[in-house]
Amino acid sequence: MSYADPSLEALLQRLLTQYQPRYTEGKVANYIPALAQVAPAQAGVAIATLDGKVSGAGAFEQQFSLQSVSKIFALVMAMNRLDDELWQRVNMEPSGQPFNSIVQLEWEKGIPRNPVINAGAILVSDVLVSHYSASKSAFLSFIRRLAQTDQIYADQQVYQSELEHGNRNAALAYLMKSFGNIEAEVPLVLAQYFHQCATAISCAELSRALLFLANRGVQPGTQAQICSRRDAHRVNAILSTSGMYDQSGEFAFKVGLPAKSGVGGAIVAIVPQFGVITAWSPPLNRFGNSVVAMQLITAIAEELGLSLF
Ligand code: DON
Repeated sequence: MSYADPSLEALLQRLLTQYQPRYTEGKVANYIPALAQVAPAQAGVAIATLDGKVSGAGAFEQQFSLQSVSKIFALVMAMNRLDDELWQRVNMEPSGQPFNSIVQLEWEKGIPRNPVINAGAILVSDVLVSHYSASKSAFLSFIRRLAQTDQIYADQQVYQSELEHGNRNAALAYLMKSFGNIEAEVPLVLAQYFHQCATAISCAELSRALLFLANRGVQPGTQAQICSRRDAHRVNAILSTSGMYDQSGEFAFKVGLPAKSGVGGAIVAIVPQFGVITAWSPPLNRFGNSVVAMQLITAIAEELGLSLF
C-alpha cells in the first residue's frame, strides 16, 4: 500500500462522518438481483495524488461493482485503436435523456449521442471486440496494469445477472446493428459490455487507475503513456459534459470537475494536475448517481477549491 497524506485523510474522515448517514435518501440499484442485494449503509472515499500517495476513509479498500465507470477505460482502449472513425460512429454531445434511453437513438439513425450513455458504451464495446484479440481479458489487464494490482476481477455473479436482465441493452445494440453501426455479432458485443460493467474494484484502486487522466495521459510512477495528451483532454471533456448523465450540468455548476458515475454507487472525479477522487456508497438518487458519493465529492471539491471553472 502506498503512503497516505495525513491532512487529506483527516479531511476525508471528517466529511465521511458528516455525509454517510444520508444514504437513507437514496435507493440501491435494483435492475439486477446481484446489485439489489448490496447493503446500503456503506461508504468509502479515496484520493490518489500524482505524487503516488493514496489517502482514504471508510470502506475505501472494499470492492464494489464498477458499472458505468467502466465506460472510461473502454473508451480509452477504443481511442487507442481508432482515430476519427470512432467519432463518425459516436457523437460527443450531452444526451439530455436517461442513460439507457432508446428513443433518441432511432431519431439519430443509430449514432449514439456520446460514448458514456449505454448506447455509446455498447458501440465502444463493439470496437473492443472487433479490434482486440481476447477483448475481455485485454480490458481486465488494462485496468490491472493501471491500478497496479491483480486483485481487480470480473464478478461472475454480476455478469450473469446482467446477461439475464439485459433486454434493454440488447435492444440498443440490435437497433444500432440495424443501422449498420455495430460490426461484431450482438451477443459478443453485449458479453463484452456486461463483462466491463461487472468489474469489481475499490475506491483506492479506481483512483490510482485513472491518474493518467489527471496527468495528460501519462501514468505517474511508471511514466507510461497510456493515451495521447489530446485523448486525455478529450476524455475529460466528455466526462465534464456527459459523465453524470442528466445531472452533468448541475455537477459542473456545483463541483466543476470531469466525473463519471455508475449504478454500483461509485463516482470518480478527475482533478487535472492534482489527482483523482473516488467516492462510493450504494444508494442512488433518481438520476442513477450515488447520493452520498455526490455529497462527498461536492464537499471535497469545495473545501480544496478544485473547480476548473
Ligand atoms: O448497462 C447498464 O444499464 C448497467 N450495467 C450500467 C448502467 C450504469 O451504471 C449507469 N450509471 N449511472
